[in-house]
Amino acid sequence: MSPSELKVRGLAAGYHGFQVLQGLDLDVLPGITVVLGPNGAGKTTLLKSLAGLLPRAGEAVLDGVALPSGEATACVRQGLALVAEGRQLFPQMTVTENLELGAWLSTPRLRKERMARAFEDFPRLKERATQLAGTMSGGEQQMVAVARAMMSGPRLLMLDEPSLGLAPRMVDELLAIVRRIAAQGVTVLMVEQNVRKALQAADRGYVLERGKIVASGDAQDLLHSDVIRQAYLGAA
Ligand SMILES: Nc1ncnc2c1ncn2[C@@H]1O[C@H](COP(=O)(O)OP(=O)(O)OP(=O)(O)O)[C@@H](O)[C@H]1O
Ligand SMILES: [Mg+2]
Repeated sequence: MSPSELKVRGLAAGYHGFQVLQGLDLDVLPGITVVLGPNGAGKTTLLKSLAGLLPRAGEAVLDGVALPSGEATACVRQGLALVAEGRQLFPQMTVTENLELGAWLSTPRLRKERMARAFEDFPRLKERATQLAGTMSGGEQQMVAVARAMMSGPRLLMLDEPSLGLAPRMVDELLAIVRRIAAQGVTVLMVEQNVRKALQAADRGYVLERGKIVASGDAQDLLHSDVIRQAYLGAA
């Protein structure tokens, strides 16, 4: 199966009448797409509304099939997975138990296959399979969160600030894993504050400000663009 594509047209979402996103158009092509933008721009709102955790208006079409609004389970069944801001692990459960929960909609056979795959892709987690998730380091916990999302067998993996709070070396390791996941044919949509590293790892990018897309394009072009250099990389 070829890698997935998500087409978003006229997306609107918000909270109790407070409109955060309006008329958003987005094409998430195979590879890695990064969404950049300041705090409060609506990045998390975008991912949550696509994952069915928040109602939205407008169209979101994954490989030709419309994603329902506000139906998280249906979105998982259609191949979406979200690694939420702040990881949301079960701290009193082991690494293995956390991973098993990621495959809650899958058959036991698939769960077993994907668990073996997860321990191949994340050797660090294999060594710590029986450790309580809450006692892992921040970077290790983020890996558990990504591995757990992969347990649902997604076609589109969405990550909300995966590098938050991680040391530079851990950020590099995590982004290398994300690249590997994309190379395996899983399309990735990632929100990041780590602008330079994210654009270096990504294929394409969007810049979101106050709920609107203000720039988009090839990641390398964005990295060298004035809008990114001045607003996000602190260039004079
Ligand atoms: N549950 C909520 N109820 C009401 N307003 C909310 C809620 N969650 C977010 N908002 C508001 O929606 C706007 C966008 O928030 P969002 O979390 O999407 O931003 P963000 O781009 O992810 O920011 P950050 O970089 O800080 O994570 C903000 O003004 C925020 O205060
Ligand atoms: Mg956010």
